[in-house]
Parts: sequence; structure tokens; C-alpha cells
Amino acid sequence: MAEEKFIVDGLAGAQKLSGTIRISGSKNAGLPVIAASLMCAGPVHYSNVPAIEDMSRMFELLSDLGVSVTQANGEATIDATTLATNVLTREVSERFRASIILTGPLLARCGEVQFPHPGGCVIGNRPIDIFLNGFEALGATVTEVDGMYTVSAQQLVGCDYFMPISSVTATESLVLAALGADGITRIHNASFEPEVVALCEFVIQYGAHIEGVGTPELIIHGHDGLLQSETMECVITPDRLEAGSYLILGALAGSEVTVTNCRPDHLGALLELFRQIGITTEVGESSVTVFGYTQKPQQSYVIKTHEFPGFPTDLQAPAGVLMTQVPGETLIFETIFEGRLHYLHDLERMGARVDHWDSHRATVHGGTPLKGRTLKSPDIRAGLAFIIAAIIADGTSEIHNVYLIDRGYERVEEKLANIGVAISRVSA
Ligand code: EPU
Repeated sequence: MAEEKFIVDGLAGAQKLSGTIRISGSKNAGLPVIAASLMCAGPVHYSNVPAIEDMSRMFELLSDLGVSVTQANGEATIDATTLATNVLTREVSERFRASIILTGPLLARCGEVQFPHPGGCVIGNRPIDIFLNGFEALGATVTEVDGMYTVSAQQLVGCDYFMPISSVTATESLVLAALGADGITRIHNASFEPEVVALCEFVIQYGAHIEGVGTPELIIHGHDGLLQSETMECVITPDRLEAGSYLILGALAGSEVTVTNCRPDHLGALLELFRQIGITTEVGESSVTVFGYTQKPQQSYVIKTHEFPGFPTDLQAPAGVLMTQVPGETLIFETIFEGRLHYLHDLERMGARVDHWDSHRATVHGGTPLKGRTLKSPDIRAGLAFIIAAIIADGTSEIHNVYLIDRGYERVEEKLANIGVAISRVSA
């Protein structure tokens, strides 16, 4: 694929953007519900499917497994009745971490799954021990040769599994594996992010019995056979991270920016930060409008990332850009991933003032204008944060590694141009 970059003309702090951005289906909610098609006896029709690179990788991976995938214009039909293999190829799996969600349903459906250590964004260590220990708790055996894992079980058996760290994709994978187990599985300290809830609600709609949805204590009743119904449908939940990213942009560089087709109830932590900073919002049933930010006296703030409903790690970098403009000091405490503060060094090159304490903590001194620079997107979310920084900066910026942004944000330049951003995509 040809390398591309974004060229962004900054607004030098002017709050000029206005208009509406329609939020797409969520990457992190869509990937697990699509993986759940492997637990279904017939075709599943999905809508609100985002046109993003990670979704394309998931479709490629399913096709490699022999699953029938037809998709266009935000709709997809996945039929796993033609599933032909339980081996996830290295080539695609190593390109995105979410491939690992497929391990649970493949193990449940086939009794065995083979997969490599997954790749994905370099935002920290990202081990897979919680998946492997969870599968072992369900009675599976795990072996590893040359970086390929084989997990197998004649019959998975319900268990009590205490998750040492709540992991979103491990919860999703284990829920799907536990559906194929004999008896009841209790996952303690499970993730209950909206994406986990969306997955549980989808499988429950087609016959799964799961208690405790939306809480850290999930009770999954083993399901006899595959999920089935005459027609199976799933509308992918709106992306709270896309919505949050564009609201942050609106707060910084907008006079009035509205995101529609979103779930305001998924945005509580960000709306609370806006309230503290003095940013006015208008919250509708499925929309949020943000009005431009007005300077307030210096204050101290803390952004501490946390599992849902706390401040999402995936909005930490866009929020970091926001806090470079807010007078006062903000302690950013990234508790989930140890590699997610590197973007601050690039913001410093643009003029931000930051004290770095350790790999999890930094203090941003706000109220500093930014200057356009050449930047390289390190991961999906920091990439989007760089676009926001470039928009508020004085001068022109180039943002390289656009592929990483395309992994999670649909038609980003088109959506931004619609609210007045001068952004173009060109060959790098
Ligand atoms: N962890 C382990 N062992 C494991 C699994 C996780 O120690 O086996 C640790 C991680 O290193 C991390 C913590 O557990 O410190 C939580 O990570 P989690 O497993 O919840 O992350 P994930 O499931 O790999 C999902 C999202 C990420 C998001 C995190 C946290 C998907 C596909 N990805 O990742 O999204 O940052 O949860 O909310 O759902 C993104 O969209 O840009 C993105 C990175």
C-alpha cells in the first residue's frame, strides 16, 4: 500500500470550526460482535459497520478461515457455516491485536485454535497471559512452538476465573469460549466496557444466557450448540472514542460542533472533564454539541485513565492536546498502558510544556500556543491527537503514518473538512 500523509493548515488558535459530524460504528464494539458470528449457526447481518482498516483486517482473517464475508456500504453479512480451519495466519494476525478475540469462539466451535502472538498498536507490553490462563481455567491445554500457540480441549468445562487485571478483549474472548463450555463460568473482575456489554447483548438476543452484564461479575451459562435464529442481525454500537475525539477538537477549535448518532451515556468521563474546564455542552438523546472553549483562570486538573466508566485510555492523547491549551497544570496519569505518553514529546516539539515523571505520569502546563510541525502517528489515538494539535497550531503540519489513523477512524479527512478543517491526504 502506498504511504500517505495528511497536510493540515492550522487555525492558530482561532475557534472557527462548525457543523455536524456523524459518528460511525465502533471499532472496538464491532470487532467482537463480528467475531461472535463464529458462534452462530447461520448468516449474521451487520449494519453501521465502519469502513476502517481494522475491520478490513478482520474480514480478511475470517475469509482466510473459510468464512463467507460479503460487505459494502456499511453493511456486512458473515456466514461461518463454511468455516474451514482453526488456524489464524501470522501475516494478518500480527497486523492487529484484535485478531485475538477470534481465539475464544474458534476454541469453542472447533475444540482447538492455533494463533501467533498478536500485533497491534505499540502502546505498551500487551501480553496475552490472561487469555491463556482463562482458557486453561476452562480446561484447555496451551502449548507454544516458535511463537505459535495451540489451545485445545476435548470439552471446555465451566469454571470460576478471577481476572487479575480487567482486560477488555480477554473478557470478550472468554465470554465466547465459555458459551461453548459445559456448565457455568463465572468471570470475576471482568471488563464491563460498553463494548463488552454490546457483545453480551448480541449473543443474549440469540439465545445465550449471561447474567451480570454491565458488571464485573459475569455468569455465562454454557450453550448447547451454536446460536441460531431464522434471521440474525446486529447494529454496531456508535464509536464513543471517535465521538470523544471530535468533541475535544470542537472544544478547542470550534464555535459549535455537534456529533450525532452517538451514545452520550458512554461519554460521561469526558463530559465531566469539559464541565471542570468550563466547556459548555448540550447533550441530546443521541448527540452532543460542544461550544468553543473560553479561557478560565489557572487551575490544576488530573486526568487519570481508568476502566469504564472512568476516563478512557483511548481518549488520553486527544485530551492531552486539549490540556496544552487550558491555563493551569494537568497531571496525566495513564494507568492502563505504559507506552501511551510518548506523544507528549512531539507536542513539546510543537511548543507544549511538559514535565515527564515516569512512563505513566506527566504534567502538562497549559496555555501554550502550538506551532505546525512534521509528525509521525505512533498509534491510532495519538495519531488523531496529532491531527487535533495540527488544527489548533500556527502554520502547516504534516502527519505521517496515516495508516494507523485509518485503522480506527472512518474517512477522517472528509469528516473534518465538512466542519471547516483544511486537511488533505497526499502520497508521502
Ligand atoms: N493485559 C495483560 N495481560 C493480558 C491482557 C491484557 O496484562 O493477557 C493488560 C494490558 O497490558 C493492559 C491491561 O491489561 O495493561 C488492559 O488491557 P486490555 O486487555 O483491556 O486491552 P485490549 O483488550 O488489548 C482494548 C481496546 C484498546 C483499549 C483497551 C483498554 C479493542 C480491540 N482494543 O484493548 O483500544 O485501549 O481495551 O480500554 O477493544 C484502540 O482502540 O486504539 C485501542 C488500543
